[in-house]
Amino acid sequence: MSNNDIYFDQYDYEIDENPYPIMQRMRDEAPVWYNEKYDYWAISRYEDVLKASRDTATFSSSYKTVLELMTDEPHQSSMIINTDPPYHKMLRDIVAPFFTPAKVAQLEDDIRKIVVSYLKPLEGKTEFDFVEDFARWIPMDVVSTILGVPEEDRRQINIWGNELLHRDEGQTEPGEMNIAASEGLDNYFAKFMLEFRNHPNNTVSSAIVNNIVNDNGVDRPLTDAECIDYFHLIGAAGNETVARLLGSAAWLLGAHPKQRKLLAEDPKRLPHAVEELLRFEAPSPTQFRRTLKDIELHGQLIPAGSNVC
Ligand code: HEM
Repeated sequence: MSNNDIYFDQYDYEIDENPYPIMQRMRDEAPVWYNEKYDYWAISRYEDVLKASRDTATFSSSYKTVLELMTDEPHQSSMIINTDPPYHKMLRDIVAPFFTPAKVAQLEDDIRKIVVSYLKPLEGKTEFDFVEDFARWIPMDVVSTILGVPEEDRRQINIWGNELLHRDEGQTEPGEMNIAASEGLDNYFAKFMLEFRNHPNNTVSSAIVNNIVNDNGVDRPLTDAECIDYFHLIGAAGNETVARLLGSAAWLLGAHPKQRKLLAEDPKRLPHAVEELLRFEAPSPTQFRRTLKDIELHGQLIPAGSNVC
């Protein structure tokens, strides 16, 4: 299903500015759309995306999930985001007990303190940069509290995380800055990991480094490379996404003062508001998979070995 006047391109800043009209047309007119330039299939309807995300036997993450990073062979990375079951479950089970709703709720006081510490210096100011002075640093502090990253190291990790994920307009290959940032994170977390190997405790970081996992019937701890990948992902993944969500929340609530007033009057609406903000302006709007077998969707054959967005 290739519709000639529909064009979506995740590397195009102009489309990225307002992708919604074209996404609407894809959903309505071409729910399976082929991007000839980059040789991938885009599926855009909610139900299709949900099904594909769950069907890991057809749509694999193990060739990586970002188009410009995708590999010819599977399992070139042990980052959980680039893996499929059962290896994925093995990795996930290590951290799952630390991210239950009850455990996350216990973080509330610490998170409140972090937010207040960034709000205090802004008191009385008539103008400030919401992202640079506020939103950018909060997720870094929260993730660092969870992992045990010392305060003095957080700024650099945040900078590496942003440099890792940044793409210039039209940039379809990882550049020097992206690679250097990735190495910076890997080197940092290689040392970070040793701390927990030498001094085990009851934190999620210690579980990643020291827990014994059952890998296909073999009991073993994670290798150094697996630990570094885990920290690298958690250290970088939670930063940009949450900062983007906070930034678009401020912008959207500014643009919709009635909604903002409703929220201010009744904070119980917040959980729904967060869900709606995530839907309305998704911080991470495209994910890729590789098809492991032929699949037919809306009358269109997507061959095995295709990249699907
Ligand atoms: C607004 C906030 C966030 C958004 C929008 C977001 C978005 C996403 C998306 C879309 C994926 C799935 C990618 C795929 O299916 O290929 C993902 C996976 C992941 N994210 Fe986030 N994320 C957020 C916050 C965080 C935070 C705070 C952390 C860490 C503390 C985190 C850690 C991870 C991890 C470890 C995975 C891999 C999970 C797995 O494969 O089972 N994310 N995130």
